[in-house]
Amino acid sequence: MKEVTIRIRRSEPSVSSDVHYDEFKVPVGEGMVVLDAVHYIQQNMDQTLAVRWNCKAARCGSCSAEINGRPKLMCKTRIDSVGDKITINPIKAYPVVKDLVTDVSHNYEIAKKIPPFTPKEGLSAPFKMFQIDVTRSKEFRTCIECFLCQDVCHVIREHHSNYFGPKHMVKVAALDMHPIDAIDRSELLHGEGGVGYCDITKCCQNVCPEDIRITDNAIIPEKERIVDHAYDPIGILIKKVKNRRW
Ligand code: SF4
Ligand code: SF4
Ligand code: FES
Repeated sequence: MKEVTIRIRRSEPSVSSDVHYDEFKVPVGEGMVVLDAVHYIQQNMDQTLAVRWNCKAARCGSCSAEINGRPKLMCKTRIDSVGDKITINPIKAYPVVKDLVTDVSHNYEIAKKIPPFTPKEGLSAPFKMFQIDVTRSKEFRTCIECFLCQDVCHVIREHHSNYFGPKHMVKVAALDMHPIDAIDRSELLHGEGGVGYCDITKCCQNVCPEDIRITDNAIIPEKERIVDHAYDPIGILIKKVKNRRW
């Protein structure tokens, strides 16, 4: 049976500062994905290997890793698409808990800051929406929260800024573009959300396993909305007139 060599980064920072790679020879059959090989190692070679997974169907977003340097889902990456020598690292943007498992809880803190869907007052149910609005927000709702886009974003990865990150821009866009939603989240993104740090490199969009056009359809429209709200002189004048007490 054909074999591949799998190198896996091993570490457990809460226990030791040791970081090293272990190498395993794994027999491969037709159609095997990288997660199958990791499971084989866990079951037959090293039961201490830590990996997070759930669905093995590219739906739960748990098995994100860097495979030969590229952010991917392990359950969606066929072994025959990455070669005979495969190096697996945990996603780099977040602290390692153990081996391939990272602590992504920072994303849950950001999610709490984003105001939820808030329908306009006085609307009677059932709400009616145009198909174009349904289609637009449906794209964003396919997000599986794998955080691969966060991992590849150089702003998060290298500068550790306060930028919320592309995954959260997708969430905000889904809410802001909903025709019945009443909340304006542009001030949050302009301020605490740090969307100005994004320089539209589109790296996030290129790694999204759901093919969400993160930069084109979420980030750029949000940036345009912010410019309209924060810098358009006519808009600012209208706001001032509206808020003026006569
Ligand atoms: S387009 Fe923006 S969010 Fe996406 S990777 Fe580049 S800097 Fe990050
Ligand atoms: S936008 Fe795409 S890459 Fe980012 S978390 Fe959602 S599914 Fe993953
Ligand atoms: S195990 Fe669920 S996305 Fe890979």
